[in-house]
Amino acid sequence: MCGIVGYIGKNNATNILIEGLKALEYRGYDSSGIAYNLNNEIKIIKSEGKVSNLEKKLEENIPSHIGIGHTRWATHGAPNEVNAHPHRLGITTLVHNGIIENYVELKKELEKEYHFNSETDTEVAAGLIDYLYHQEKDKLKALKKAMEIIKGSYALAIMFDDELDTIYAIRKDSPLILATKNNEQFLASDIAAILKYTNHYYLLEQGEIAKIDKNAITFYNNDLNIITKKEYVYEGTQTDIMKDGYDHFMLKEIHDEISVYQNIIKSYVPNLNIHELEEKFPNFTKYDEITIIGCGSAYHAGMAAKSLFEEYANIPVNVEMASEYRYKKIFPNPKELVILISQSGETADTLEALRKAKNSHMDTLGIINVLSSSIARESDNVIYCLAGCEIAVATTKAYLAQVLILNLITILISYQKKIITEEKANEYLSDLKKLINQTKDILNKEKDYEKIALSIYKQREMFFIGRNIDYALCMEASLKMKEISYIHSEAYPAGELKHGTISLIEDNTIVIGIVTKDDIASKTISNLKETKARGSKIILVTTDKLFKEYINDKFYEEAIIINEINPLLNSLVTMTPLQLLSYYVALHRGESIDKPRNLAKSVTVE
Ligand code: F6R
Repeated sequence: MCGIVGYIGKNNATNILIEGLKALEYRGYDSSGIAYNLNNEIKIIKSEGKVSNLEKKLEENIPSHIGIGHTRWATHGAPNEVNAHPHRLGITTLVHNGIIENYVELKKELEKEYHFNSETDTEVAAGLIDYLYHQEKDKLKALKKAMEIIKGSYALAIMFDDELDTIYAIRKDSPLILATKNNEQFLASDIAAILKYTNHYYLLEQGEIAKIDKNAITFYNNDLNIITKKEYVYEGTQTDIMKDGYDHFMLKEIHDEISVYQNIIKSYVPNLNIHELEEKFPNFTKYDEITIIGCGSAYHAGMAAKSLFEEYANIPVNVEMASEYRYKKIFPNPKELVILISQSGETADTLEALRKAKNSHMDTLGIINVLSSSIARESDNVIYCLAGCEIAVATTKAYLAQVLILNLITILISYQKKIITEEKANEYLSDLKKLINQTKDILNKEKDYEKIALSIYKQREMFFIGRNIDYALCMEASLKMKEISYIHSEAYPAGELKHGTISLIEDNTIVIGIVTKDDIASKTISNLKETKARGSKIILVTTDKLFKEYINDKFYEEAIIINEINPLLNSLVTMTPLQLLSYYVALHRGESIDKPRNLAKSVTVE
């Protein structure tokens, strides 16, 4: 999510802006930039990737005392330097959080006056405000008019060349706060950016305008009359802010899943049309084999994709743990694509696996969350997961972002190989709306999963069983359970159970059965009943459709029933309740959920 910071005062503005942007990094972003006044001239510096890249571009001790800064999370236009903020048109420079919905119409009009360089909606806002200022000859009137014209959400911090000692701010539906301390004025999209300096702040309300100069912040209401504002005090810490009111990052990140899906859609298939994917994703037509490599949950995302790629895109897939791939004999095939999956993009084994594949002259594609990370930089191609910053060690939203990207690739290959028609591909894509609604429903039912967690949290062991893609989901659900609750948990292919593992089933052993695939549902259900006959307690995870079709007797203790979307997207909605189940089991056991013992978020050693 984008972030804004602004500063006016006696200290070095660029240092304070960089510090503020770093404090906003937790929101997730792909590029950053600042604009500052240097000797009565606006300087703009931008950079792709981390704020530290931007920092490297700045000279030390720049004698500037006023500026605005931004971290951008791409919505309109690719995450590159041109699209990064600040944007400048005419004499107007600004940074923007939010989405301007009518930017296409506005741009058409403004193109008569301005030449646009970026693909962003933000540059249109700069053009509009500049245009209105030239018409009105008054900044407050121009900003008031801009608020009447712009549709959508925005928080804007604006500088004008003819008044370079002042910052103006307006907002609608995107937050913006202002603060003043020891003759220094601050502006930010969230208190994290300025908490180092002050915890007292003012909230800019919709329709209001703030004018900030070195002496004071002046607030105007919609009639352009000066108003007095109430001051708020923030009592929490930086970590509290980052948790957004949730008790743990893991819970917050599970709730972020909706915005992650929305962001993926907005960035790759805004009109839910297969041609958008053709344009934005690499061409897969030349490959006749795919190898997917990852570690832990990323490997599990690959396992889920294997089932989908093979069944719906008719392409053979090998899935390899990166730590094994590194040291095994490989048989490079010039028509093989090697896909590396990694949230951090820094996992040592995955990075070495990538280098091995490249040394063997195979094409490589990274599916990566962290922008400009090593694997993203070294892969021939990269598709970003756009899941934002993930802080809990146990991955949730980034895993699901990986699975969604792999789903989209499945649809694309299937379409490119003419297995499905354009109409069918678009039908799958339009189901993405259902994915968002179903995930919302699941999150609303969060307390139901807590109730199930309360019935199992004292257990010492658990088994997750399923077949085909359901087995891949079992692997991920079981990892989530064991890594944060420390309950010994195993995932097993349901049919393999009776070749040994079933001897571990005794009275009250918890068996969680995932049944989302029609053609094998009855088989897994029989396997679940076999464990029931040996005393297990069963938690059934299935779709409403399969439940109606296959469940005639109550052989289970608890059931998690998700609404069927389609065979591709079912894999995503099945996982969210299981992540919540693990979370609540660990919560009631009193474990350290966000930082489980012995684990690290990014495993950069072998
Ligand atoms: C489990 C988990 C890990 C990571 C694995 C790979 O919840 O987070 O299993 O999936 O360490 O990490 P990345 O994706 O950063 O390569």
